Amino acid sequence: MRLSYVSVLTLALCVLSFASPSTAGERSGLKGSEKFIDSLVAVMTVEEKAGQLTQYSAQWQGLGSGGRLSPEQAEQIRQGKIGSLLNLLGAEQTRSVQRMAVEESRLKIPLMFGYDVVHGYRTVFPIPLAEASTWDPAAVELSTRVAATEAAASGIHWTFAPMVDIARDPRWGRIAEGSGEDPYLGSVMAAARVRGFQGDGPGTPTSIIACAKHFAAYGGAEGGRDYNTVDISERTLRETYLPPFEAAARAGAWTFMASFNEIGGVPSTANRFLLTEILRGEWKFEGFVVSDWGSVTELRQHGIAGTQAEAALAGILAGTDMDMEGSCYRDGIPQLVKEGKLPMSVVDEAVRRVLKIKARAGLFEDPYRYCDTAREKAAILAPAHRASAREVARKSIVLLKNDRSILPLLKNLGCIAVIGALADSGNDCLGPWAGAGRGEDAVTLLAGIKAAVSPETHLVYEQGCDVTGISTAGFSAAVNAARGADAVILVLGESASMSGEAKSRSSIELPGVQQQLLEAVHAVGKPTVLVLMNGRPLAIPWAAEHVGAILETWFLGVETGHALGDVLFGDVSPGGKLPVSFPRATGQIPIHYNHKQTGRPSQDTVLWTSKYLDLPTTPLYSFGYGLSYTTFAYSNLTLSSSTFPASDTMVVTVTVRNTGSHRGDEIAQLYIQDPVASITRPVRELRGFKRVTLAAGEAQTVTFPLTRGALAFYGLDMKKIVEPGLFRVYVGGNPVQTLTADFTLQH
Ligand code: NOJ
Repeated sequence: MRLSYVSVLTLALCVLSFASPSTAGERSGLKGSEKFIDSLVAVMTVEEKAGQLTQYSAQWQGLGSGGRLSPEQAEQIRQGKIGSLLNLLGAEQTRSVQRMAVEESRLKIPLMFGYDVVHGYRTVFPIPLAEASTWDPAAVELSTRVAATEAAASGIHWTFAPMVDIARDPRWGRIAEGSGEDPYLGSVMAAARVRGFQGDGPGTPTSIIACAKHFAAYGGAEGGRDYNTVDISERTLRETYLPPFEAAARAGAWTFMASFNEIGGVPSTANRFLLTEILRGEWKFEGFVVSDWGSVTELRQHGIAGTQAEAALAGILAGTDMDMEGSCYRDGIPQLVKEGKLPMSVVDEAVRRVLKIKARAGLFEDPYRYCDTAREKAAILAPAHRASAREVARKSIVLLKNDRSILPLLKNLGCIAVIGALADSGNDCLGPWAGAGRGEDAVTLLAGIKAAVSPETHLVYEQGCDVTGISTAGFSAAVNAARGADAVILVLGESASMSGEAKSRSSIELPGVQQQLLEAVHAVGKPTVLVLMNGRPLAIPWAAEHVGAILETWFLGVETGHALGDVLFGDVSPGGKLPVSFPRATGQIPIHYNHKQTGRPSQDTVLWTSKYLDLPTTPLYSFGYGLSYTTFAYSNLTLSSSTFPASDTMVVTVTVRNTGSHRGDEIAQLYIQDPVASITRPVRELRGFKRVTLAAGEAQTVTFPLTRGALAFYGLDMKKIVEPGLFRVYVGGNPVQTLTADFTLQH
């Protein structure tokens, strides 16, 4: 039976208009469209259903350019065998491909276009790890809002973000895409990103569908090797890895992506416990789950399926609704249904979930809503977007060291030597997974410095060496440049392509001969600022000991140079804090602030305690650490009660004073500890934070509400409990230097 587009839509819209409220937004809402979806599912063949559960990638054309559709893919769209595409960009291109689906396929079901909009679309923002360093959910929401506005104008309905994997192993290259080591900070950031992407929600033209990924515990890969096995307890899964996913679900993320890894023998794509019991059962998630790229077919490599069809069966029964870049569902589902191995009801349920999200994005009302060339032209790299990128980039910078107040530098120095290959590389400014970003859009650090200093200041630029190469041929020119300068800005670290997917490193020291370059330039004896660009914490013990000033900048995006110019020359004081600990050496990994006490807590002078013979157990720079051009003092830590109040909320207040001479931002942090419980508890757990801006001499009272839920943990039976007894509260500018107060929770 061939139905016209008009007849399918008329049928469905008729149902809608009877069944639902009057506004367009409500009509396209998840619940309002259920009858419409049912009517559509009722007329679909099993092949068409499998098609809705199939996603392919357009052929990739390189960074920043839209992919291309193959003739075979075009034919499959016309046959209703593809429900979604990824990597196809641009209002015009997506419109012409959408036309194939809604005008040339039997049921005219619109395609959903997905893309990895991870930290900006064309206006590339700092990488997520950098944005987490802002400790400012409003900044992160702004960044994702801008990304959604641009992507939505460029035909994209759906981003594969936020990436909310907790990562405590900097060898793992994908640490760059997440918010670091802490479940609480990670949860706040996850929710902010979902809000930013999805904006005003259903069908608004500046919203895109969020996808919380990679579900779950992908960051726990053994040895930090990407895609590797994860073997963790259910407690660690629930306490460490799941909270940001739950936060994303509760913030309304419409889709989830299953991860590549296995946990304890069960690959996530086939993990019913994760995808159905926890996600849908416990968290009441109503959207759909997409596999990761080829992760359904990889169930064969994992060794839990012998054929494509078996892989499809394992995936769909577990709760993976859509097969990304694989033909397991497309070919396997019709076969499995015909053989009686897969109930049609399971297929229908998955199809319904996908169609509901399409309806929710307004695609049945207007399949071309996101393909608007005029809007695309106005939105892409709009000046206001660049201004937001600069604002967020400045906030992301973390000052790790500033001896003798080397920073800020004067704008009218006679000569500044800028050294390092990364200082003038637009592509590297963007960082990994740079959306539709283009290197030529980026203001490099060198360009930013030029724009910031006085016209009289002479700038000398030398690369010194490559990021990874072994040639030291450029050292003497770099050293000479340093000799002739009043100050040196040395830009070292990793290229953008050294972090992200499949970019694990076995050692996290500065790559290539950059350490030697650093030592050679430092030996000149000029005031030296080390600017780090990198997608993971690096082990930089030598720099930490010898170099006067160090700025961690991660990858700051298109406004890198401007943001760094603002900070290096003192227009803005750096106020970011680390979202992940910096080990002293690769051998300390994994290292994180919220570790357990052990039965033998480390003591420097006692041998039989948990420690290394050759290194302290503390990190070089802890989670939560970061300096400013000014200083802050904490006082008057007060709890609203010494016993936990019946009202269920304890109010913790502290006074933060700017005791230095610059205006600056401070991030006040609240940690708790449950010293005696039925399950061992971490030595510290972040439970609140606030970024405040204070003028020199200004003080502010910062208030943190602490709910009973914030004291809960998973008991012996894996149920959440709050146990009575003593709790300790720590408040300060990092987890180490804090004020402390105790309270008791009564029965
Ligand atoms: C594989 C990555 O793991 C995932 O994060 C990404 O969204 C997909 N490829 C699509 O590009």
